[in-house]
Amino acid sequence: MTLAVGRNITLEDALADAEARYVAANPKSRTRHLEAGRVLPGGNTRSILYYAPFPVTITRGEGARLFDLDGHAYLDFLGEYTAGLYGHSDPVIRAAVEQALKDGIVLGAPNRYEAELAQLMCARFPSLDMVRFCNSGTEANLNALSAARTATGRSQIMVFEGAYHGGMLSFAHGTSPMNVPFPYVLGRYNDLERTLGLIERHKGELAAIVIEPMMGAGGCIAAEPDFLAGLRAAATRHGIILIFDEVMTSRLAPGGLQAKLGILPDMTTFGKYLGGGMSFGAFGGRAEIMGRFDPSRPDALPHSGTYNNNVLTMAAGAAGLSKVFTPEAADALSATGERLKVRLNGIGERQGVPVQTTGVGSILCMHFQSEPIHEPDDTAHTPAAARALFHLEMLARGFYVARRGFIALSLPLVESDYEAFADAFEDFLSACGPVLRG
Ligand SMILES: Cc1ncc(COP(=O)(O)O)c(C=O)c1O
Repeated sequence: MTLAVGRNITLEDALADAEARYVAANPKSRTRHLEAGRVLPGGNTRSILYYAPFPVTITRGEGARLFDLDGHAYLDFLGEYTAGLYGHSDPVIRAAVEQALKDGIVLGAPNRYEAELAQLMCARFPSLDMVRFCNSGTEANLNALSAARTATGRSQIMVFEGAYHGGMLSFAHGTSPMNVPFPYVLGRYNDLERTLGLIERHKGELAAIVIEPMMGAGGCIAAEPDFLAGLRAAATRHGIILIFDEVMTSRLAPGGLQAKLGILPDMTTFGKYLGGGMSFGAFGGRAEIMGRFDPSRPDALPHSGTYNNNVLTMAAGAAGLSKVFTPEAADALSATGERLKVRLNGIGERQGVPVQTTGVGSILCMHFQSEPIHEPDDTAHTPAAARALFHLEMLARGFYVARRGFIALSLPLVESDYEAFADAFEDFLSACGPVLRG
């Protein structure tokens, strides 16, 4: 930040200045973005990766580092929105993928890895008797919701305002026009009284309640244990299938947040890092629900997907969970994240800037506001320009984070990386404090 503090600078002035420096520093990424726009709408094939004025193009990753087209290096504090838990070149993951490649891909048959990964997951996550694989977290939720509708013979789905369960299950601003047209009932996160009222009103028609035990995309907002326990009790009382979307949160404790909280859903959905960094999704739960997918049963539910058991994902996922992301590693990474959160919040207080870091363990989010945050609507006090300024200023300092302030830690980050991140954050706050307070 080069603007002279003391002049009457607004947040928008500071952002315009940061954008001008960003454009000047990234000419090759800009050209690539403009060229890509001829064949990809907005130069993009994954909306979350777009940000103004244009995203940097990453050409290579190694360990916890990323390198872009214009020659900048970054410490990766985004961790591919939690899918990058193992970093970019973990030797165990690489060896598993290389072995699987050597043995041939697209085999078109059960392979030697899928039952191993299923066994590892069922041993780890307490609500899983059985599991099935798919290719994304979105698919996992679609499968789980359809299974719940079939199992209950009911149609409605309770979701929460501000929730994200995939590209076709997005409730950030009401419901998205791209959503699957299920009949939704929108509960309010962490508001038990209101949500229980809705459940009572719809109890005869609700097939499932789907909820993240910590909202990730919604702003890293942890569910209060009493709220989840209340949902659990209501679901049991009315025969509604409770689904925990642990696509992000399963990494936050050895057995996911469900184990940490001691609240077990009927079904759980997974994704992200559990495929070792390859495309991945999974859904599982109680045997009487999942057993319906047994194709030898006369009443079998179909569940297809050419790449459901692709060898690269299955091999990388099994190697990662058995040899790298052990229960001890999961606990250690969560403890590191908790320490970082405390440290960042301390820096905010010391600098007298209205900022707070929310989240649990290794999944955190920055909000530039002092108002407390219990549900996604509460984050609206943070101006979009503050998030954008944080993002561009951290990129300029060599730290790759998400535009929305989201941070996901990865295993190859070391203590000196966390020190460097905290120092850069303090430097950003001391430079931009005046406009953030403004
Ligand atoms: C909680 C949650 N559920 C589901 C998804 C969708 O996963 P995918 O992007 O693999 O489809 C995401 C992705 O960010 C997520 O955060």
